[in-house]
Amino acid sequence: WLFQFPLPIPPVKDFSKVVTSPVTGKDIRYYQIEIKEFKSQVYPDRGPATLWGYDGMSPGPTLVQERGVESVVRFVNNARLPNSVHLHGSYSRAPFDGWAEDTTPPGCQNARTLWYHDHAIDHTAENAYFGQAGAYILHDGAEDALNLPSGQYDIPLILTAKQYNSDGSLFSPANEQTSLYGDVIHVNGQPWPHFRVEPRRYRFRFLDASISRTFFLYFERDTKQGTKLEFNVISSDAGLLSGAQKVKDLYISMAERYEIVMDFSNYKGENVTLRNARDVGADKDYPETDKVMKFIVSDDSVNDPSSVPSSLRAIPYPPDTGKVDRHFRFERQSGNWVINGVTFADVKNRVLAKPNRGTIETWELENSSGGWSHPIHIHLIDFKVVKRTGSRSVMPYEAAGLKDVIWLGPGETVTVAAYYAPWDGVYMFHCHNLIHEDHEMMAAFNVSVLAD
Ligand code: C2O
Ligand code: CU
Repeated sequence: WLFQFPLPIPPVKDFSKVVTSPVTGKDIRYYQIEIKEFKSQVYPDRGPATLWGYDGMSPGPTLVQERGVESVVRFVNNARLPNSVHLHGSYSRAPFDGWAEDTTPPGCQNARTLWYHDHAIDHTAENAYFGQAGAYILHDGAEDALNLPSGQYDIPLILTAKQYNSDGSLFSPANEQTSLYGDVIHVNGQPWPHFRVEPRRYRFRFLDASISRTFFLYFERDTKQGTKLEFNVISSDAGLLSGAQKVKDLYISMAERYEIVMDFSNYKGENVTLRNARDVGADKDYPETDKVMKFIVSDDSVNDPSSVPSSLRAIPYPPDTGKVDRHFRFERQSGNWVINGVTFADVKNRVLAKPNRGTIETWELENSSGGWSHPIHIHLIDFKVVKRTGSRSVMPYEAAGLKDVIWLGPGETVTVAAYYAPWDGVYMFHCHNLIHEDHEMMAAFNVSVLAD
C-alpha cells in the first residue's frame, strides 16, 4: 500500500466567535479545540488504531493567523492523560507557554510556521505520538507581498514515524527509555501518501513531528533514480531566510520547520518521489523508511504566476559578542538523560541559566552522549546558529535565518546566540526527542529584569 492513498490536508480551524476587546477595542477571535479520542484506519487489513487528537484528528486542524490579530484558544481536554498545550515557536508569556492549559497565540512575531503540541510532564511523547500535534501558520504583509506560491499551492507536510502492533493498534512509546524510531512514515497522518500536483511551483512547509526520527530528505524522478533534484529552502523555524538557499537535500530533525519551494514544471506527466536517505544521525532504519511520499505531476499546461525572489528579508541577527556565556552538556547518566548532570525532576537545581532580559547570550550546546541525536529547543527566543563542530558544519539553510531548534548530531557541539527577550519569566529548554524529554532531558532558564 505504499503511495496508494492520497495526502490528507488538515482543515483550517474556524473561529467560533469574535469579541471586541474592552481594552484595545479591536477584535479578538475565539477558538475552541477539544482533545478527544478517534479511530484511524491505517492498515486496510487490520483493526483501526485509537488515537487522541485535537478536534479528534491528527494532525490537528491548522490554525492560521494574520500578524497582529489577537486570538484566544480554549483547549478542552477529553483525553485519557493530563495535557499541557504548548505553541512551539511563539514568544508566549511564561504562564501561557505550556505550563498552563490555556494558551494565548502571538500577535506580533513575523510570519512563520509554528506548531502546537502537548507538553505534559512525563507524557509528552505518548500524547504527541497518539495524535496531539498540529500546524499553526502565521502570515504577515511583508511575506504576502513576495509572491511565493500560496493558497492551494502552500501545503503543510507534517512528518511522523510510528510503529504498529499486529492488531493495527499503535505501539506505545510509554515504556521506551531511549528512542522510538518507527518503521511507518506518515505525512499529515497518512502512511506514504501520494499527492497530485500541477507542473508548477509549490510551497511545502515541512515539520518533523516524530518523537525520535530525523530525516535527510531529497527528491528524485521515478525515471531517473539516484539523481537528486534541486529545490529552494525559503524559511526555517523563525520564518523567512535572508534569501532562498538552493539545495538538493535537507536535514530536518524533530520539531524543526523548513519551508521549501519545489518546482515541478520540468517533470510534466512524471512521478517524483520524496526520499529519506539511510544511515543519517543515529536513527534505526527499516525496509521502507527511505521513502516518504510520491508526487504525481499532471501533464496539463498551467500558468504559474508565483516566484521565488532571491532576497527574502533582512534577518535581525544578534551581533557577535565574541564570547561564550554558557556551556551545556547533553548526556546520559545512570538511566536518565541529563543536562549538565541535572534532571528536570531536580526542582531545586533545574534553573540552569538566568539571562538578563534584553541581553545577548551565546550558548554552547554539546552532545556528549555518544551515538544519539539531540535536537535542542530553547523556548521564548529565536537564535542564530553560530558554529557547529563534529561531522557536519552549519548548513546554509541553518545559517541564513533564525531558529528555535538545533540538531546536535552524534558528537556535535553547536553554538547559538540570541537576545533573551521580549519577556521575563521561567522558560524551558530541552531535547525534542520526546522520549529523552520525558526522561529528564529538560531544564529551565529564568529571564530576569534585574542584574544578577
Ligand atoms: Cu516543541 Cu518545549 O517544545
Ligand atoms: Cu535527546
